[in-house]
Amino acid sequence: MASLKEKFASKIPVWGEDIKKILKEKGDVKISDVSVQQAYGGMRGVKGMICDTSLVEPDKGLIIRGIPILELTDKLPEEIFFLLLSGDMPTDDDVKDLQDEYKKRGDVPKYVWDVLKAMPKTSHPMAMFDTAVLVLENESIFRKRYAEGIPKGQYWDAVYEDGLNLLAKLPAIGAGVYRMKYDKGGLIDPDPKLSWGANFAHMMGIDDETFYKAMELYFTLHCDHEGGNVSAFSCHTIASALSDPYYAVSGGLNGLAGPLHGLANQECLKWVLEMMDKLGGGIPTKDQIKDYAWETLNAGKVIPGYGHAVLRVTDPRYTAFLNFGKEHLPDSEVLTTVARIYEVVPDVLKEHGKAKNPWPNVDAGSGAILYHYGITEFEYYTVLFSISRAMGMVAQQVWNRAMMIPITRPKSVGTDWIKKQVGM
Ligand SMILES: CC(C)(COP(=O)(O)OP(=O)(O)OC[C@H]1O[C@@H](n2cnc3c(N)ncnc32)[C@H](O)[C@@H]1OP(=O)(O)O)[C@@H](O)C(=O)NCCC(=O)NCCS
Repeated sequence: MASLKEKFASKIPVWGEDIKKILKEKGDVKISDVSVQQAYGGMRGVKGMICDTSLVEPDKGLIIRGIPILELTDKLPEEIFFLLLSGDMPTDDDVKDLQDEYKKRGDVPKYVWDVLKAMPKTSHPMAMFDTAVLVLENESIFRKRYAEGIPKGQYWDAVYEDGLNLLAKLPAIGAGVYRMKYDKGGLIDPDPKLSWGANFAHMMGIDDETFYKAMELYFTLHCDHEGGNVSAFSCHTIASALSDPYYAVSGGLNGLAGPLHGLANQECLKWVLEMMDKLGGGIPTKDQIKDYAWETLNAGKVIPGYGHAVLRVTDPRYTAFLNFGKEHLPDSEVLTTVARIYEVVPDVLKEHGKAKNPWPNVDAGSGAILYHYGITEFEYYTVLFSISRAMGMVAQQVWNRAMMIPITRPKSVGTDWIKKQVGM
């Protein structure tokens, strides 16, 4: 058995006993109250589900299995997936083992490319990527084993197999979408010597050691963001009906394609470049940035890349991208502009007085790096986010099935009920 699967299997009884004990001894203890505001307001802050893979602390940002993300920026995405799922950092052998698994499982069936080719040329890259994931459902091991009547205790194993098969194929699919959508030439075969992230860069057609590193960092930073964000929660809900990982990840990614969620990264760089362009090119001054930010807000629009539903500090993932940029692309005017925006926009948003968090999120800096390496097709950026975030979705699903988490079914109420409840 592969070492990650073995490690995870060994944890199941330990975690399972822990949860059983909590439920038996403290199952009735209240952990959240829900206000009318929260019921109408996207359930913000309501504690109503479990996610053990990662946590987002408003004042600290992403923490993976107890480790802050800024301490993990030198890790490969393979190491991060191992950590997300098993709770432990892998050894070198574990990493090699997972990389071998990915290589064995990485071939994308021809019918996936045929379906993508048949899509309209104007299709959004996220629609192409999500479609490819859904089309791959044909490969589902979970669906076949479920039909054969596997017992509940084996669900996680089949979900793990599907999840790993899917993750192994995502770099090729993502790179394929890029080459097809933007007429970059034929598909490029993976290089067995390269890591999961570097191979993606290679299959895109950008063979540059620093870009390899940029992609590995990108995939490490976007891997997971606890359980309640739109994509993770959608995926969780779909998977709770025992829809297999292809259905569930595709559904989650459809949520990631929204402009308030993952798609914000395409909006961000667009906003920066439009500002630079409008001001005649070059790096804008702080005053010019301030004026442009106000112009955006006064037009009733949001400043992309700023604000967050949970975070109340600068997103450490933004910091990690900025650090990478300062080290590897110190001459980039776009990156310098992004850094300057950071000196101006938080104060503008504070003065504007609406956003609860005036600080940058992950999307504020990543685009500048992609742009530097020639990926100028903004619409494509969310596909990169998706390849990475699928790791969290898969890890959460395997955990949920192993812990026998039941079907999701919160209670909705109507406005009449609310009125009666509050005495109106
Ligand atoms: C991320 C985001 C969707 C969080 O939404 P939220 O939890 O509802 O945020 P808040 O509670 O702070 O929103 C309160 C108000 O501030 C506004 N606000 C939040 N972020 C803002 C921003 N970057 N620019 C302008 N206004 C903003 C909201 O639109 C909302 O206005 P409303 O009362 O008129 O509806 C929001 O900050 C946003 O739209 N940011 C820009 C898009 C983005 O970067 N998304 C990527 C997220 S990782």
